[in-house]
Amino acid sequence: MNRLDFLEQTCTDQSTLRQVRAACHAALTAGFMIRELYGKPHEITMKGEINLVTEADFAAESAITASLGEDTPEIPILAEESADDEVKEPAEMTWIVDPLDGTTNFAHGIPVFAVSIALMDAGQARVAAIYCPMQDELFCAWQGGGAWLNGDRITVTETDFLVQALVATGFPYDIYARLDDVMAQMRDILPKVRDIRRMGAAAVDLAYVACGRLDAFWEMDLKPWDTAAGWLVVEEAGGMVTDFAGKPYSPFTPEILASNTRLHTLITDQLV
Ligand code: IPD
Ligand code: CA
Ligand code: CA
Repeated sequence: MNRLDFLEQTCTDQSTLRQVRAACHAALTAGFMIRELYGKPHEITMKGEINLVTEADFAAESAITASLGEDTPEIPILAEESADDEVKEPAEMTWIVDPLDGTTNFAHGIPVFAVSIALMDAGQARVAAIYCPMQDELFCAWQGGGAWLNGDRITVTETDFLVQALVATGFPYDIYARLDDVMAQMRDILPKVRDIRRMGAAAVDLAYVACGRLDAFWEMDLKPWDTAAGWLVVEEAGGMVTDFAGKPYSPFTPEILASNTRLHTLITDQLV
């Protein structure tokens, strides 16, 4: 049985089904490629002082572009490694692609990274796929269709209290400019929660909130390809995603707070 066969039973709209299949197929194809490259020496180039890019990022992006181009030739693609420095929200339906989220982990031999693909239309994420190659975990979601991990429905946690919450965050590449803000958030949140994780891949953080491994995740200065897919996966799993003030979320704004919904205002109270 094909691992995407569950979609035929669970996604009844044929147009959506075609898009979810395309996202999952592209994510798996790129993920298999990244897994092959993981154990080999890497070609590393620097995008900034601490911001790496490897041969796997480029190979994965080419594979995704080819796969989506074949399965949904009518839909344009906005992908990290070929995007302009100033990214504008597309006016039309567009695939938003992070070919390898967690490049620093990948380059250091830490097996926590993902391929992240979302279909956005009119400011909403319609379809999402996040594939973690080393764990062979495929998360996907479509609007109104729930969130799924390897064909099983997933939901967020029911944690009501911060002291019982395992939360995650990430640190921006321009850390010098944001150090005070980052440290202020840590100072406010760390003493109130069970613990904080810094996984190193925003798409993984969001997928883990969706499947209940984490209770919440927040980060500043992210790009649309880091979060567009995870946003939908969290919401379809019953979670809430906003900016730090609790306002409606867009991946084209830099800050994100994703939670199990129950903890949301307890955390916005700490972030603003
Ligand atoms: C990064 C990861 C990391 C986050 C960074 C992102 P990349 O994406 O998601 O966890 O802290 O802000 O840029 O560069 O590995 O695709
Ligand atoms: Ca990323
Ligand atoms: Ca990336």
